[in-house]
Amino acid sequence: MALSAQEKKQQAAAAALTELREGMVLGVGTGSTVNALIDRLGPWRHRLRGAVSSSEASSAKLRALGIPVLDLNEVPDLALYIDGADEANPRRELIKGGGAALTREKIVAAAARRFVCIVDDTKLVDTLGRFPLPLEVIPMARELVARALAALGGRAVWRERIITDNGNQILDVHGLHISEPRALERELNQLAGVVTVGLFAARPADLLIVGCDDGIRTI
Ligand code: A5P
Repeated sequence: MALSAQEKKQQAAAAALTELREGMVLGVGTGSTVNALIDRLGPWRHRLRGAVSSSEASSAKLRALGIPVLDLNEVPDLALYIDGADEANPRRELIKGGGAALTREKIVAAAARRFVCIVDDTKLVDTLGRFPLPLEVIPMARELVARALAALGGRAVWRERIITDNGNQILDVHGLHISEPRALERELNQLAGVVTVGLFAARPADLLIVGCDDGIRTI
């Protein structure tokens, strides 16, 4: 049976509930797949100690459910982070940041012992780069970074009118064929003015839960 992308996201989100444990602090990502997860957290309201959130949007949804949103600085041990992605390869390396939340997402992913990524199967690729790579940049460095990306063969497009939760801007880089995600992440991290690169390769997901037409696949 052919399912819509949204139905597959719902499936992946539902499957991720088996990762939750009594009394834990849950790291919560951002986006429509994570929204499908948050919508299922009602019964967990009194069973979670709280959540660490990667965006103002997710924080608002969590608070509306009555789940305390904690400051990461007060959470020395974060057992689990669940988030979506814009693209994933078979090594569980990801492109993230389509929703402009990449910086806080990368921080929460780095803090978490386990990172579970929930996607629909349209997000799976052999080689990352079909989805334009988001970069969060300090506003004054936007064109400087764009020129450096052009020298690397990428075409950076400014996501106008978007200001991140951290007060910065987003460049979406088209035309990159990312055969070495870890090396590119390291290289782009070195550019002056880059706050965060939307490549999650140095810290990939530990588990991918993929919603497919015929059910759930895990990688
Ligand atoms: C947010 O900045 C992104 O990293 C999201 O995780 C990504 O865009 C996935 O979004 P959807 O779940 O809406 O597809």
